[in-house]
Amino acid sequence: MNPLKRLGCRQASVLGLLAATVLVTSGTATGASDAVRASTLGAQAAQSGRYFGTAVAAGRLGDGTYTGILDREFNSVTPENEMKWDTTEPSRGNFNFGPADQIVNRAIAHGQRMRGHTLVWHSQLPGWVSSIRDANTLRGVMNNHITTEMNHFKGKIYAWDVVNEAFADGGSGQLRSSVFRDVLGNGFLEQAFRTARSADPAAKLCYNDYSIEDWNAAKTQGVYRMVRDFKSRGVPIDCVGFQSHFGTGGPPANFQTTLSNFAALGVDVQITELDIAQAPPTAYANTVRACMNVPRCTGITVWGIRDSDSWRSGENPLLFDRNGNKKPAYNAALTALGGTPTAASGSTTAQRKAVRSAKSAAALPSTFKWSSSGALISPKPDATHNIAGIKDPTVVYYNGKYHVFASAANASGYNLVYLSFSDWSQAGSATHHYLDRTAIGSGYRAAPQVFYYAPQRLWYLVYQTGNASYSTNPDISNPNGWSAPRNFYASMPDIIRQNIGNGYWVDMWVICDNANCYLFSSDDNGHLYRSQTTVGQFPNGFTNTVIAAQDSNRYALFEASNVYKVQGANQYLLLVEAIGSDGRRYFRSWTTSSLAGSWTPLAATESNPFARASNVTFPAGAWTKDISHGEMIRAGYDQTLTIPACRLQYLYQGKDPNASGDYNSLPWRLGLLTQTNSTC
Ligand code: XIL
Repeated sequence: MNPLKRLGCRQASVLGLLAATVLVTSGTATGASDAVRASTLGAQAAQSGRYFGTAVAAGRLGDGTYTGILDREFNSVTPENEMKWDTTEPSRGNFNFGPADQIVNRAIAHGQRMRGHTLVWHSQLPGWVSSIRDANTLRGVMNNHITTEMNHFKGKIYAWDVVNEAFADGGSGQLRSSVFRDVLGNGFLEQAFRTARSADPAAKLCYNDYSIEDWNAAKTQGVYRMVRDFKSRGVPIDCVGFQSHFGTGGPPANFQTTLSNFAALGVDVQITELDIAQAPPTAYANTVRACMNVPRCTGITVWGIRDSDSWRSGENPLLFDRNGNKKPAYNAALTALGGTPTAASGSTTAQRKAVRSAKSAAALPSTFKWSSSGALISPKPDATHNIAGIKDPTVVYYNGKYHVFASAANASGYNLVYLSFSDWSQAGSATHHYLDRTAIGSGYRAAPQVFYYAPQRLWYLVYQTGNASYSTNPDISNPNGWSAPRNFYASMPDIIRQNIGNGYWVDMWVICDNANCYLFSSDDNGHLYRSQTTVGQFPNGFTNTVIAAQDSNRYALFEASNVYKVQGANQYLLLVEAIGSDGRRYFRSWTTSSLAGSWTPLAATESNPFARASNVTFPAGAWTKDISHGEMIRAGYDQTLTIPACRLQYLYQGKDPNASGDYNSLPWRLGLLTQTNSTC
């Protein structure tokens, strides 16, 4: 958005211009191929930094078919039974790590990572432990078991299931009865995690359970409360494992919500024991996709290789049949990971259909339809802030809340405002914190963008001040925690100076991939610029500024650009705000497979827009004809700016269609678009 009064007189000329101009941008397809599409589960998962693992039984390691598939397809291993208490400490103080060592050493030799499963569990627990009645004795026994087992495997285990299945089934949301809870009380979990952290500080510590995939289940909520409590009190926990032993229906529809809500607490999430009765391909694809759509879902483990290896072998729940052949579910899972099944596989019509459905669902469609809320967020003037419009929102969902930052505008200029709420129904009643009261300071600050820069464990707020500026904050929920503004550039880069004409330098936007961070900005003169630095140097070193996209009609490529990573697809999405032939704001969209690459039109015209009043319905009343500067609701909150491929939501600014006058005094309000034509 632009800080100055403008457009009033330009708008009329836009009409004529657009009517006669076919919108063309410089960004057309280069034919560049996607990143390598692998043809095995582990290799494909690795493309997004994830693993794809399996449970392994020591007793099957002599079977060549079994180990052939194991080493070809999987890059993570969980011992199915060999690390459980009844095997590792069958009598007090007598440890037996032989069977587990066999699995661990083999996995390491084959470059597979190891999950440790499991240290404290009421099941497969020897009688000598379950009969202990004295708390001090049991505490000592538990701590010694954890410490000895973790020490033995130290340096070899990526993540440990420290405690398994501690919560009760049904509606209580409480811990289940077990010798640990009954003798030590609820605190045994905390004790176990603290002991585990001291034993091997390098291993990730997970809580693992089943029937916690449905966000609405009492058991899920019980585990969520525990993890939230641990995180708030500094009790060490790094991950939550969702066993995912599903019936034929597969995962609950809200599984992805569950994963991302847990991830938002600041833990990794993993699918740890996946099997699905009868292995329907769609159910597998849905499960894999739920993980791919959540940046902190770091990997998936299936609970066995062939149906004949499964603890549920009567239900044929796995990816390979008894002969070791790939089942349709295999192709669906591989495709949902972003891979390409080889020609030999997926040869029946049903298999090809499953593959196609999993594939198309992972990428964005090329037309969009939306439903809009009414105006959800309006200015809240106070004694010292007489606000006319609330604009340019940026939003992340983190720690159970939406955190929204926006421009607060009035005739005299722009500054920033922050609000948070747990639900969109609460957005209107949230307190507005004016950030000019913080170290961010007063004066021209506008068009914020917020994200968590994971490598530095810091939140960044990027905004325009005439330069491209930023503030940092260790705690997004503390409006007073923001640092004073710093600039990304010493001054306006030459290429911008040479092309800006009578436009304005606005709407700075940062996105990073694994290696680099990119800073996009607009000039209200038909140019989208891109600078870059390395992930290690960020926020310093932005250089090599280039024109990333341009249009000879400045209004067709105007401002308010957003760039996102589409989760589960090798695809980035670019949105740019344009001014239509009716003088109203709308969004065009492009995609690319590389942030430094050129952009291919997706829904990029007035008749096939990304979001325009013409493809939005307004069940609560058409309160705006402008769909203007805003932000997608992301799947995560970090610098990768990952969005889901499905059921998109976009927080935007709109205004009373009859409002006119001073640009800075227009009555902008915030509303939420929800995609209605999602096919996945
Ligand atoms: C199962 C194994 O697959 C079986 O071989 C064994 O007889 C029982 O345990 N939740 C877990 C796993 O955490 O350890 C269980 O594994 C399956 C349920």
